[in-house]
Amino acid sequence: MKVNKRILAQAVGGVSALAVVAIGCAAWYVYEPEIPKVQRPAKSSFDLATVARGEQLATVGDCIVCHTAPVGAPFAGARALPTPFGTLYSNNITSDEATGIGNWSEGAFKRAMKSGVARDGSHLYPALPYEHFTHVSDEDLQALYAFLMTRQAVSQKAPENELFPGLGSRPLLAGWKMLFLHQTNFQADKSKSEEWNRGKYLVDGLAHCGGCHTPRNLAGGEVTGHEFAGGVAEGWNAPPLDASNPSAANWTEDSAAQLSPNGL
Ligand code: HEC
Ligand code: HEC
Repeated sequence: MKVNKRILAQAVGGVSALAVVAIGCAAWYVYEPEIPKVQRPAKSSFDLATVARGEQLATVGDCIVCHTAPVGAPFAGARALPTPFGTLYSNNITSDEATGIGNWSEGAFKRAMKSGVARDGSHLYPALPYEHFTHVSDEDLQALYAFLMTRQAVSQKAPENELFPGLGSRPLLAGWKMLFLHQTNFQADKSKSEEWNRGKYLVDGLAHCGGCHTPRNLAGGEVTGHEFAGGVAEGWNAPPLDASNPSAANWTEDSAAQLSPNGL
């Protein structure tokens, strides 16, 4: 009996020690520091060619679609995004200091895009597709920053998110990221052409095609091994983009450019 008790005590002790370590690790991962505010950079401090490239990249990333309300100013946010977990509202990403990202440094912007962490250190919901944006190069993020910081500042605060009870806690997102956010830089495949690699870089990163066209699991993560097998976006079916596409007519390079099979 005595021995059993000792074994039990040891086991309990061991488990608690493990729990303390686990909580410690989790807290370390959950905690992200605030990045201090900066003076809003003067529009003239950005190079025009970089701003123009940022504009093209913002189009590829569809920033305006999620960050503009139906009758709102471009990039001023407050667009409702229904998700299986409740409704999220996009933020204002104009250069307004009080309600936008006017006093975010370039570093704070890059961290949001690559790690899904806001300037104040809180975790962002993956409705901002950072599991894809994380693959965008530093240079492209710099151009996007230059483009956004030279937009008209608009004062508009997004409404509070309306998530189901229990899901509104941002620290929980650290766990989601541990499972689904793979922060790797784009690796070119040397056996493929430059054009193919450029396409893959855009598709996997900024254009986040898989964000809608890859099925998701119950936790909202994209199912690995089923890339582009078809998904759902805001209640719309996003058809498969692989060979299983049920389209009766074959897609060609030209028809894909016009987004209609066989140019129909
Ligand atoms: C599919 C919709 C979607 C797209 C596309 C999208 N965003 Fe967002 N973004 C969001 C949502 C929703 C949030 C707020 C997330 C939250 O509240 O945690 C957000 C938050 C942000 C934030 C953090 C702002 C803050 O104040 O915390 C930045 C920066 C941002 N997005 C930049 C961009 C840029 C740049 C692009 C285009 C390259 C882009 N987003 C494309 C939905 C989107
Ligand atoms: C915000 C979600 C979303 C993103 C991101 C997205 N798509 Fe789609 N896509 C859709 C939806 C929804 C449809 C179906 C539209 C319809 O039914 O009219 C669609 C349709 C298509 C079709 C037509 C397929 C068919 O069989 O009719 C192609 C091709 C396509 N998308 C390619 C892409 C590519 C390439 C990217 C990345 C550059 C991309 N999509 C990014 C949601 C998305």
